[in-house]
Amino acid sequence: MNPTILAIESSCDETSASVIQNGRVLSNIVATQAIHEQYGGVVPELASRAHQQNIIPVVSQALQRANIAKSQLDAVAFTRGPGLLGALLVGCSFAKSFALGLNLPLIEVNHMQAHILAHFIDAPQPNFPFLCLTVSGGHTQIVLVRSHLDMEVLGQTTDDAVGEAFDKSAKLLGLPYPGGPMLDKIAATGNPNRFSFPIVNMEGYDFSFSGIKTSILNFVKKNTAAEPDFVQHNLPDICASIQWALIQTLLKKLVLAAKEQNIKEIAIAGGVSANSGLRATLQEYAQKHNWNVYLPAFEYCTDNAAMIAMAAHYQYLAGDFTTQYASPDPRLKV
Ligand code: KG4
Ligand code: ZN
Repeated sequence: MNPTILAIESSCDETSASVIQNGRVLSNIVATQAIHEQYGGVVPELASRAHQQNIIPVVSQALQRANIAKSQLDAVAFTRGPGLLGALLVGCSFAKSFALGLNLPLIEVNHMQAHILAHFIDAPQPNFPFLCLTVSGGHTQIVLVRSHLDMEVLGQTTDDAVGEAFDKSAKLLGLPYPGGPMLDKIAATGNPNRFSFPIVNMEGYDFSFSGIKTSILNFVKKNTAAEPDFVQHNLPDICASIQWALIQTLLKKLVLAAKEQNIKEIAIAGGVSANSGLRATLQEYAQKHNWNVYLPAFEYCTDNAAMIAMAAHYQYLAGDFTTQYASPDPRLKV
């Protein structure tokens, strides 16, 4: 089997299409929706409309860049969920119509599994079984990955996702959206030990990130009452200290899971895996705990269709197809 697959991703604010042939990504076009910047966060209704405008040009470019004609395709894949319902509907409806028009089979992909399978786009690839810390704007999970399509969530956040915690912390400090990458950049020049923010320890492998927002809000209120420009004057140290607390919260549980599951193959995935502090700390932990650590290439950390294509490749080989009755599932689980 040597499948050529067109994959569509439209779960949030990135419209993306990718072509994969025999497991090799030939193209990965991503249209980022800048419109949300002025609102300080993703506006679901506007995301759906932008997907509607972007989807055909993005797919045309993906086919062109891959130098693949529609007649060469063997299947069409799309993100079924999790994600924003209106955004998912655009990708799902497009994929269904496209597949129907060309009489091709359809493959529905789980967005969270796809983030993990981004590790199989390029070498080095993790060996099974491995643990993946999946950290994005909507999820924070420790996943036991037994094979390409056999995954189990061992622990997850009980409230906010860590990406959300990054974005909301940045907003409280007056940084523009998307706050995560900005906070990361500013933190690079700060002292992470200057201020102290809570590192919440939940049961088992679970996480909680909602408390850190309140603690930052109180911290900002208290200090600006005494010194109005406190945040501006201390921004790098504040960012570095917040980032340190978020990373420690994540890694505490990852260390516990690695120890109890007796696994030394450790990967990270999702938007927050682009965080330079998290990447550097993981490299240190690799030395300390004798782990083999796998960090995704930056282009495959945040949402993209290449990871959907990679998942679709393995599903094609496993004969895992869906029907024209397929519909999005905003709360789909791994
Ligand atoms: O995986 P993703 O693109 O979309 C979701 O599926 O949610 O993740 C987006 C999240 C956002 O919260 C964004 O702020 C965060 O990833 N993010 C970062 C960095 N780059 C993206 N957070 C911290 N540091 C970064 N460098
Ligand atoms: Zn994502």
